[in-house]
Amino acid sequence: MKTEVLEINETSLKKAGELIRSGEVVAFPTETVYGLGADVFNEKAIKKIFIAKNRPMDNPLIVHVASKEDILKVAREINTNAQMLIDKFMPGPITIVLPKRDEIPNSVTGGIDTVGIRIPEHEGARKFIEACGCPIPAPSANSSGKPSPTSAKHVLDDLDGKIPLILDGGESNCGVESTVISLCGETPLLLRPGMITYEMLCEVLGKVDIHPSVLENNKVDKAASPGMKYKHYSPKARVIIVDGSSVTAKGFYDLAKENKRNPVILWEEEELSDFGERSSIALYSNSDTRIAARNLFKLLRECDKKGFDTVFITAVSEKGAGLSVMNRMLRASAFTVLNENSSTEDLKIALQIN
Ligand code: TXA
Ligand code: MG
Repeated sequence: MKTEVLEINETSLKKAGELIRSGEVVAFPTETVYGLGADVFNEKAIKKIFIAKNRPMDNPLIVHVASKEDILKVAREINTNAQMLIDKFMPGPITIVLPKRDEIPNSVTGGIDTVGIRIPEHEGARKFIEACGCPIPAPSANSSGKPSPTSAKHVLDDLDGKIPLILDGGESNCGVESTVISLCGETPLLLRPGMITYEMLCEVLGKVDIHPSVLENNKVDKAASPGMKYKHYSPKARVIIVDGSSVTAKGFYDLAKENKRNPVILWEEEELSDFGERSSIALYSNSDTRIAARNLFKLLRECDKKGFDTVFITAVSEKGAGLSVMNRMLRASAFTVLNENSSTEDLKIALQIN
């Protein structure tokens, strides 16, 4: 199949709508990451999403709608907490999990009776959903396990030949996927941190619980958000988080180099000069973790393209947007964190050097 990449305009939107109504899948931009959408009521089309991405069938999809009025096409009811979040943050980079309507197929939600709902802020995304005329279930438009795509080019790199159309709406502004919060239990439960931060949620809702797997390697099989149990966001390179100073990172880098690796350091821009001739790239600057979020997936993909096989990446503060950055980095690194007390042996184990 030939994959077309088209800028968003009236003609391409019309084409995208026709493809979706005929049972095809289409990739589209959002402010978080690019999504791969299909008609929510067409089970064959939904199956195509899972096949194109090579995604496990029990990992539920987020259903995207264009307006607040359409939420009740997907959710059975809107409770008080949901209403407060809708009023404050939608459209925006947040997904609320609510009891689902019976009409929403089980293949969308991986067989569970709740559904994640999101109204994207990206105008192109909303126009696309409107052109389709139905709610659009859509995961991130990457191959399953790879870093999520933040540009049309990333989608093409992963899914060329597997989908008919990619709508190009420029680079995604947030760079990490939406905040996912379940409103089905007594206390709201943060399942995946994003740009609508934990602190922002607490301000509106009062008490919010954080699911343990947000920052821990939670081996429980039945995670509240099934997506959290899979390996995630991994480039080909081995990612190692460095929770320490640039001196510590330099030590690890040099040891990797001695062992014939081709390493790179992703660090704060202000300290890059500490690394001298070593390969290093700015992850963020001015302690602004929103910039780290915007750059993270893009840089992990770039490291692969440039042939680096080992990525040492700085830990960031878990406040604000930093929580979502740490959450994604921990998964990209398979929870590998080294600090100044880590031994040569620890690094060798992380790098699988004997
Ligand atoms: O920003 C985003 O959310 C992007 C764009 C395209 O909107 N989408 C996205 O979808 O990241 P995906 O499929 O890659 O991630 C969806 C996450 C998964 O971790 C999944 O388990 C969780 O949301 N999820 C979806 N529905 C759920 C539900 N009913 N209950 C609990 N978790 C749910
Ligand atoms: Mg994803």
